[in-house]
Amino acid sequence: MDNENREDNERIVSTDVNTEEVKHEVLLRPTDFSEYVGQKKVVQNVEVMVESAKIRNSAMDHALLSGPPGLGKTSLAMIIAKSIGSDLHVISGPAIEKKGDLAAILTNLGPRDVLFIDEIHRMNISVEEILYSAMEDYRLDIVIGQGPSARTMQIQIAPFTLIGATTRSGLLSNPLRDRFMAHLHFDFYNHEELVEIVGNNAKKLKLVLEISALELMARCARGTPRIANRILRRVRDFSLVKGETLISEESVKKSLSLMEIDSLGLDRMDRKILQVIEDYYKGGPVGIETLCATLAEDRTTIEDVYEPYLLKEGFLLRTPRGREISQKSRDHLLRQNSIK
Ligand SMILES: Nc1ncnc2c1ncn2[C@@H]1O[C@H](COP(=O)(O)OP(=O)(O)O)[C@@H](O)[C@H]1O
Ligand SMILES: [Mg+2]
Repeated sequence: MDNENREDNERIVSTDVNTEEVKHEVLLRPTDFSEYVGQKKVVQNVEVMVESAKIRNSAMDHALLSGPPGLGKTSLAMIIAKSIGSDLHVISGPAIEKKGDLAAILTNLGPRDVLFIDEIHRMNISVEEILYSAMEDYRLDIVIGQGPSARTMQIQIAPFTLIGATTRSGLLSNPLRDRFMAHLHFDFYNHEELVEIVGNNAKKLKLVLEISALELMARCARGTPRIANRILRRVRDFSLVKGETLISEESVKKSLSLMEIDSLGLDRMDRKILQVIEDYYKGGPVGIETLCATLAEDRTTIEDVYEPYLLKEGFLLRTPRGREISQKSRDHLLRQNSIK
């Protein structure tokens, strides 16, 4: 494995999830609304939509879920399907290459089924077009033949619910975005919510934690339940090896340091972004393209995965002339570098 790839795998905030992690996530997924912590506005909206669908005895309205990775979009789609009592079909937008593949999936849906399309903004535009009439009229318009002899064939499909998930709703095409009745945005979780999530998940894993250990994990989870789960898993391994029955704050500190997560919850890549702006561009402003080239990173990864949290916490500032780091970042980098 070359260095680049190794870095990728050690990254805390990546979008991809390995198989071990998938198993871990399945175990820790909230299974109904009562277990689903936070995102109050989103949940309130969804509960009304689900109830209305049940009363009307028809499909729930289509919903678009947007927000950074790991905030509970897939989990919510699963809970929705379960509450409606219908089947959930999960596909990934970029994985559908041909119109025919999507048409086959759509014609196989049962009445009131939920189709969850992850990363819907990365779907091929010609494939996406099939969705327009499917979402609006539960109908597929298939063009047969070419030129003057081309005909449109219409196929009726079952009334279904499309739930699209995206890291940025701004990347969706207008015709697709307009066909979603509900646009639900996911925010980072606050400290209390993360404490609750870590506490619940520790119970599921049969772990007993000191309160201060729990608090520390929540503080360093970057506002993201998926990251909280990753930390919890490493802490479990660490204390298992140590033979610790009550997990201490000290063990959490050691695990975080092994994961290169600092006291404010930033990981190596977060710090690298800030450090590069400081060292190469005197703290900024620097244009996003230039910044990504210096970091040798893909722009969407930086914009969708890293920036939202850095912006929200005031480490990074977005100005018309580019990205700048704040005094908070400078102080933090100084402190981190002096620890090293
Ligand atoms: N609201 C929540 N309450 C409790 N746990 C959550 C919540 N949202 C996410 N999680 C945890 O985080 C993990 C990742 O969430 P997921 O739904 O896969 O995020 P996304 O699809 O937005 O990337 C889940 O397996 C679950 O353990
Ligand atoms: Mg997901």
